Amino acid sequence: MKFANLSKALSELKKNNAFRQARTFDVNGYAIKINDSQLINFSSNDYLGLAGNRDLQTQFFEQADMAKNNWMSASSSRPLTGTNSSHTQLESLLANSYGKTKALLFNSGYHANTGILPSITDEQDLILADKFVHASLIDGLRLGNAKFKRFAHNNLEHLSQLLSTYRDQYRNVWIVSESIFSMDGDIAPLADLVALKNKHQCSLYLDEAHAIGCLGKNGLGLAEQLNLIEEVDLIIGTFGKALAGCGGFAVGNQTLIESMINFSRSWLFSTALPPINIEWNLFIWQQLASFNHERENLSKLGYLFKSGLEKSNKEFLGDSHIVPVLESGNEHVVALSSSLETKGILAMPIRSPTVPKGAERIRFSLTANMTEESVSHCLDCINDC
Ligand SMILES: Cc1ncc(COP(=O)(O)O)c(C=O)c1O
Repeated sequence: MKFANLSKALSELKKNNAFRQARTFDVNGYAIKINDSQLINFSSNDYLGLAGNRDLQTQFFEQADMAKNNWMSASSSRPLTGTNSSHTQLESLLANSYGKTKALLFNSGYHANTGILPSITDEQDLILADKFVHASLIDGLRLGNAKFKRFAHNNLEHLSQLLSTYRDQYRNVWIVSESIFSMDGDIAPLADLVALKNKHQCSLYLDEAHAIGCLGKNGLGLAEQLNLIEEVDLIIGTFGKALAGCGGFAVGNQTLIESMINFSRSWLFSTALPPINIEWNLFIWQQLASFNHERENLSKLGYLFKSGLEKSNKEFLGDSHIVPVLESGNEHVVALSSSLETKGILAMPIRSPTVPKGAERIRFSLTANMTEESVSHCLDCINDC
């Protein structure tokens, strides 16, 4: 991006209803308070509803061995002295859970996606990424030396064409996709991606940020749900969404993980996450398989919400707990979000250029601790607006 004049660029954003600000919220479970108004939060990624679970937090602090670690800071990057027994234990657990050889923690999903692609590819490789992948993946594409192309969203025909045309010209080709797409809530055709990967002898990178915790018998994500973990070369996850923590991770084979350890700049050159964070991630991961009730509730609420939207003929996207309701134009989408807010519903507008012009939307995300009444109330408010 190039700004001839910063103030002018910011005024332009304001004029286009695209100016961003971080508002201050007081969050308590799925209730959220702003300026003394109590709202239901439909903009959180706390899909399992764990972030405000007091009992879990009490259990965590009761079992934590506070004498064991420098809890609050790793005090250096991982390759220096920032690797503590908590990091190693969590990495072993992640690798075991997925049945992969190795796992590596990153400071966030963003660090993972920006750091990994440049560390495992070079100019002899090609990356084919879905058109709708997250900004962190796009930054990862831009930071590396591999050539990259984008295929139309979830469009297997286009991907297949690109593979047929380009596969032979490169040493390796990585297909990159999300499992549940963050802004659209729809799901990648994973079995077909695997079939194409096998047909063209290339590799598959799957970002499960929005599926981990929510899909699969043990909450490992879409690849687990479809019994395809073995077929995916790299699975990326985050602790910052359904797992109510902080940090990201990758699981894959030894060569891939060792390449990240040696070449991934976002891993090498940043202070590791504090042990207290990693211990919490470990505590949650050890219980991940047991959150079936939350997974069932999330899926039930998603069904209820989408059926309600269908009944009132609203245009929406998504096959998951992320349900974007379309409303063309930044101005409209901002007005709808404000109007919902006056009725007690917090649902953020997703404006262009984050999404294409004309496909602006309100992104509703459901969380497992919501009640059916709160979802019905939200539907009533949408209809009233
Ligand atoms: C698909 C996807 N990957 C990665 C990330 C980044 O994860 P984190 O929030 O842990 O940095 C996000 C965040 O929204 C995401 O949607």
